[in-house]
Amino acid sequence: MVDGEQVGVARLGVIGCGLMGSGIVEVAARAGVDVLVREIDAGAVEAGRARITGSLDRAVKRGKLSAEDRDATLGRVSFTTDLGDFGDRQLVVEAIAENEQLKTEIFSTLDKVVVSPDALFASNTSSIPIMKLGMATSRPEQVIGIHFFNPVPVMPLVELVPSLLTSDATKESARAFVTGPLGKQVITSQDRAGFVVNALLVPYLLSAIRMLESGFASADDIDNGMVLGCSHPMGPLRLCDLIGLDTIKAVAESMYDEFKEPLYSSPPLLARMVDAGLLGKKNGRGFHDYRG
Ligand code: 3HC
Repeated sequence: MVDGEQVGVARLGVIGCGLMGSGIVEVAARAGVDVLVREIDAGAVEAGRARITGSLDRAVKRGKLSAEDRDATLGRVSFTTDLGDFGDRQLVVEAIAENEQLKTEIFSTLDKVVVSPDALFASNTSSIPIMKLGMATSRPEQVIGIHFFNPVPVMPLVELVPSLLTSDATKESARAFVTGPLGKQVITSQDRAGFVVNALLVPYLLSAIRMLESGFASADDIDNGMVLGCSHPMGPLRLCDLIGLDTIKAVAESMYDEFKEPLYSSPPLLARMVDAGLLGKKNGRGFHDYRG
């Protein structure tokens, strides 16, 4: 659809209901969009559903959402473990872990399953080339990066990342969806690992980890330095914990593969913490302790 019409999105598919996927589902369903979510098994479906419900319950408690609107939002969300159910979707956003092989397999399957010739395929990847995902399909002009920020319901930004082959109609449809119903603001980046924000943010986060690793300062002092000295909402190590140390490591590795710059190389401490299962807030411990 190089010269095609813009696609309006009433039926969205989201693949992956982890930290990012569940946030994308929540903002879309709150905007009135019908959302079908795919997770790998029944346990992951229940964990994803709990994440979305927990976030909506929190909005109700804070008086930002009525109980009726929470129930209506949840009523617009359905779950499956089968990508074969995505046949009628107009836009599918993939939001699984940063694994290039798994992502290309998903895009290749979507290409076979999704019926509409105008449907759009998007990835929430932080660092994997959109071109590679596009080439896993027979319609690379309809593939684009739509990169959200954590926590998705709070952060206003979305990076749009067209590949060399993404059509103008696809760019406009994606922009209309995220700025219209989802109410986000958009910046556009070339298809380079890290895009705009992570290309700037990740070297900063890795520097903070190196600083801790070398005994330069404590985790609390590094974080307080940036919160109290520079008015950041949270310090770099706490932000690593929010994003997930496994995600930071995967993003840094993609950026290092692409640019071969030492500033993107993962410090050993980050690798050891991921080996140890200390992944940050999502599982209770990272650079800080969230248990209790
Ligand atoms: N879902 C919905 N709302 C949430 C939320 C969530 N998960 N977390 C926080 N909020 C809302 C709260 O309800 C509250 O709203 P209110 O003030 O209107 O009541 C507001 O956000 C502030 O929350 P809290 O008072 O609980 O906590 P803080 O004031 O400490 O803010 C924060 C928490 C919003 C996470 C803030 O610390 C922050 O902005 N941190 C920086 C986050 C950031 O940099 N994200 C980008 C990460 S990079 C990324 O995602 C890219 C990836 O590719 C790696």
